[in-house]
Amino acid sequence: MLGLKLPTDPRWVNIVAKNIDEILTDHAYCEQKAASTAISLIVSFPEYPELIEEMVALSREEMGHFKMVHDLIRERGQTLGRDRKDEYVLELIKFFPKGGSRTTQLVHRLLYAALIEARSCERFRLLSEELEDKNLAEFYRKLMISEAGHYTMFLKFARKYGDLKEVNQKWDELLQYEAQIMKGLGTKETIHG
Ligand SMILES: [Fe+2]
Ligand SMILES: [Fe+2]
Repeated sequence: MLGLKLPTDPRWVNIVAKNIDEILTDHAYCEQKAASTAISLIVSFPEYPELIEEMVALSREEMGHFKMVHDLIRERGQTLGRDRKDEYVLELIKFFPKGGSRTTQLVHRLLYAALIEARSCERFRLLSEELEDKNLAEFYRKLMISEAGHYTMFLKFARKYGDLKEVNQKWDELLQYEAQIMKGLGTKETIHG
């Protein structure tokens, strides 16, 4: 699914199910970071009008997701906790060397974003299929569909702005690297942990 080379260990859902409040806070910040990434791409690459259009829409949509998660936290009588470090993302963004032309830098950021969306989508799918709380499962099913759309959009932009053959090769290498990171994960009650 989604080109990912290593599926999440399904036991991860059992860990999450025992601590829903914890994952909701982590999840809320994933949505906030997705919105921040969209805004940051606008600031870094203002010369791409189509990208700006989509990133404006995306930042709104991701903050909409943030609100959905925050509403759920409040419904559960909780308050949003502090932001957590996303070890997965921090490892992932070490893959491409820093620098290069503006186009290269743009392609790298788009590929990272595509992969984070793809993995989030995979994790949401697992939650939608395996959680016993049916309301929560349905909540994750809807979000899974959105994130799948974001994944394809980022990949489409990378292929449009970069050299197609080079982008496809980089994407494949990044997927392989990500699979290595995933081998050590699936043990925490966070979206990417
Ligand atoms: Fe989202
Ligand atoms: Fe997204």
